[in-house]
Amino acid sequence: MDSLLQQLGHVSAVIGAQWGDEGKGKAIDILSGHFDVIARACGGANAGHTIVVGGKKHVFHLLPAGSLHEGKTVILGSGMVIHLPTLLEEIALLRKNDIDIIPRLLLSDEAHIVFDYQKEVDAVMEERRSQKSGGKIGTTKRGIGPAYMEKAARTGMRLGDLHRFFRDGGDLRSELAWRNGFVGALFSVSLNVEQEARNLEDAYEILKDCIRPLPSLLDVMEGRRILIEGAQASLLDIDHGTYPYVTSSATTVAGALQGLGLAPRLLSSCIGVAKAYCTRVGSGTFLTEAKGDADNRLRERGGEYGATTGRPRRCGWLYIPDLVFSARLNGFTNWNITKLDVLDEEDIIPVGMGEENGKVRYEELPGWKKSTVGITSFDKLPENAQHFLQFIETKTGVPVSLIGTGPGREQMIIK
Ligand code: GDP
Ligand code: IMO
Ligand code: MG
Repeated sequence: MDSLLQQLGHVSAVIGAQWGDEGKGKAIDILSGHFDVIARACGGANAGHTIVVGGKKHVFHLLPAGSLHEGKTVILGSGMVIHLPTLLEEIALLRKNDIDIIPRLLLSDEAHIVFDYQKEVDAVMEERRSQKSGGKIGTTKRGIGPAYMEKAARTGMRLGDLHRFFRDGGDLRSELAWRNGFVGALFSVSLNVEQEARNLEDAYEILKDCIRPLPSLLDVMEGRRILIEGAQASLLDIDHGTYPYVTSSATTVAGALQGLGLAPRLLSSCIGVAKAYCTRVGSGTFLTEAKGDADNRLRERGGEYGATTGRPRRCGWLYIPDLVFSARLNGFTNWNITKLDVLDEEDIIPVGMGEENGKVRYEELPGWKKSTVGITSFDKLPENAQHFLQFIETKTGVPVSLIGTGPGREQMIIK
């Protein structure tokens, strides 16, 4: 671990290389103990990051997966869109585990608020999309797209605005009434003004001291070791992903730095996280999607059901050009290849190498047909598993430094 930490340096980001759910949360949890500040930068409760500690499962949507580590400062950055009742639920859940995160939680006053009505708008827009060719995106219906739409339209409400309403005597209800007219005209959705107001009031009561201006967050981060928890993943990026089947935020490391207000030159490393195979939840292209038996096998062995929506994830094989693309976009310095154990029973492991005449060209690597569950040293891996990982290194030019061999915190090889 020590030599990896030295390589990672002071400011490191953990970024998904595929379509999400690669296992970013687990890497963050393992590394968090060695950093001072753990930060989410973009996205919202569309993320679902699962960690397993002592056999117990914890799922994070807004708080970073490193939040279990006592004493670490936790930041939710300016690029995020935050549904406050969901945040309060997560805080309460931690409290049930005897963790009071409030004294070490900092929220950028520039982060946008996700309203309940924006979840309704999300659903209405999906329904309308289903009436055109191309169909639905398959969003998480967490109001993410509509919240970023309002951010871009400059009608969004930010956390800092709550001071205006609850501290400085601003008129929240007339603001919400205006909002009602605005979304009513565009989407035939109406606000439950009293419910929305209560959501904000309840949250402000608990969070008012956590909401800080960006310069003070930058002061907190200055000179400290920062671990940035990416959410979603590179192929879901609003600009560089498989548009329109993407999320509404910039999911690459550049987006994360922008979301936190950190100068790009401060970044010292970026870990790309990829499954040893590939999954996608929601619609959109997936060239190496497996059919029939293999799809089901991977789903059942990998427990591939969404942490946020419970939807079965589409399963398939690695596609090297996507990994190379993600590595270039983010400047990955290291790989965390996760869920190697899920491939333990495969006879052969197809790896997509590119497209020829409209068909994917596969290279078939031999399986290892032995359990890798819980192995913590590279040398103990079956030879074919080592070969598989070396293949990824050679084809992408990025060293594999972390290898997941099970969902548990301790089930990781650190090379
Ligand atoms: P994230 O969104 O990138 O944090 O990933 P998710 O938490 O949505 O999905 C990853 C799932 O795989 C979770 O259920 C993890 O507990 C599980 N997981 C992570 N790493 C491994 C691994 O190496 N092996 C196995 N079998 N499961 C893993
Ligand atoms: P984590 O951080 C997997 C997908 C949705 C949908 C598309 C748009 O857990 O890896 P949205 O609700 O964002 O408007 O949905 O993006 N999506 C994710 N898929 N993991 C995620 O996050 C995702 N966040 C969004 O399924 O296809
Ligand atoms: Mg997830």
